[in-house]
Amino acid sequence: MKNKAWSGRFKEGTDKLVEEFNASISFDKRLYRHDIQGSIAHAQTLVKAGILTESESKKIIKGLKTVEKEISEGKIEFTSAMEDIHMAVEMRLTELVGPLGGKLHTGRSRNDQVALDIRLYLREEIFAILDLIHDFKKALVEVAEKHIDCIMPGYTHLQRAQPVLLSHHLLAYYEMFQRDTGRLVDCLIRMDAMPLGAGALAGSPYKLDRKLTAKALNFSEITANSLDSVSDRDFAIEFISAASILMMHFSRLSEEIILWSSQEFAFIELSDAFSTGSSIMPQKKNPDVAELARGKTGRVYGNLMSLLTTMKSLPLAYNKDMQEDKEPLFDTIDTVKVILKVYGPMLKTMRVKSDAMFKATGAGFLNATDAADYLTKKGLPFREAHHAVGSAVAYCVENNKTLEELELDEWQKFSKLFEADIKKTVSIKNSLNTRKIYGGTALETVKKRLEEVKKEFEQCGCC
Ligand code: ARG
Repeated sequence: MKNKAWSGRFKEGTDKLVEEFNASISFDKRLYRHDIQGSIAHAQTLVKAGILTESESKKIIKGLKTVEKEISEGKIEFTSAMEDIHMAVEMRLTELVGPLGGKLHTGRSRNDQVALDIRLYLREEIFAILDLIHDFKKALVEVAEKHIDCIMPGYTHLQRAQPVLLSHHLLAYYEMFQRDTGRLVDCLIRMDAMPLGAGALAGSPYKLDRKLTAKALNFSEITANSLDSVSDRDFAIEFISAASILMMHFSRLSEEIILWSSQEFAFIELSDAFSTGSSIMPQKKNPDVAELARGKTGRVYGNLMSLLTTMKSLPLAYNKDMQEDKEPLFDTIDTVKVILKVYGPMLKTMRVKSDAMFKATGAGFLNATDAADYLTKKGLPFREAHHAVGSAVAYCVENNKTLEELELDEWQKFSKLFEADIKKTVSIKNSLNTRKIYGGTALETVKKRLEEVKKEFEQCGCC
């Protein structure tokens, strides 16, 4: 059986099981547009190298465009015998243009071809993901603005700690996703090098103008070492790392959405369109979207581990192990995209129960630090102030009172420095609005930050 492009030195056909096992077509078919884009650029470079005539190149390019159309219309049935997308495209091209199709692979190997295809594909997907992050950040900002003055407990150790604005809390996530944007842009910068010309591993013996190919494919640079060009998958690992961090952020937000929508917190209610029910318990309204986002974080971490482990200890240069790069990469892209799409609308349609949030600041002594700061401002060392207010809190616990409810004579049991204005100091709104420091939760500070964030959106050139 001599029907394979590489079958010249083989006397026997491939075992059926091996054919199935070896094939990547079932998943790498999604690279077809990028494979064809790379081949078109290569066909043009082959003209300059004197390997193809202008008219041969035109015929090949026309054929490649036909193949692209056929694939996009689902007219090509992919089989394991085709092995991978590179072979499948070349096979169909040769059917269309005859033996001329066989000239396209001159000076090229599937090793540099696949390295190029993944870069082209991933670059496009990162741009799409950046757009989706942009939309999601916008949704965060919109919800923050809508509830700009909604006060809620801020937590440490999941214990009520100090009052914060819900808008401040949401803008904390804006900062995280802003850094995610930066990481992905960074990843794009490092993968902006064109590998064709590396050949199988040692570099092509033909006079291929690599810079011309790079220009045609919109790369700023060409890779500098042929061995590295065909065996580097750092860019994919880097992308999945950035995606893992992004998912970690989603898992934290999800955990809060899940907690806040529970009856124990009852801070928010998700809209019906973004919740699901139970097949047995008629009363249930579950936050499945947030739970799935939290759950799929594990899946993306798994993809990162998978690719890191595949690449671990691989000798230079290309090894077939590297065909295993695609599924974790594709799965990561699909997962991140769907979560980014669904999450913004979920946040925008949730009902914020601002009364419940504010009410929750009434218990838990969230203003205790303010009382300590009051004493400190009067000259008491902070540690002594901390102790005095700690005793006042213990007194309140014993007498079932809040700090706001203490009378001046009660305050003075703990320090003679307390005066009538302590009442105002320990009001929740006062506690919040004294935190005017840049980065703090005071209403006017958060409003200013919101304005800055909106300007960042206007200036954003990345997406
Ligand atoms: N399907 C292969 C992959 O994704 C393409 C490269 C194959 N190269 C080879 N020398 N067999 O890795």
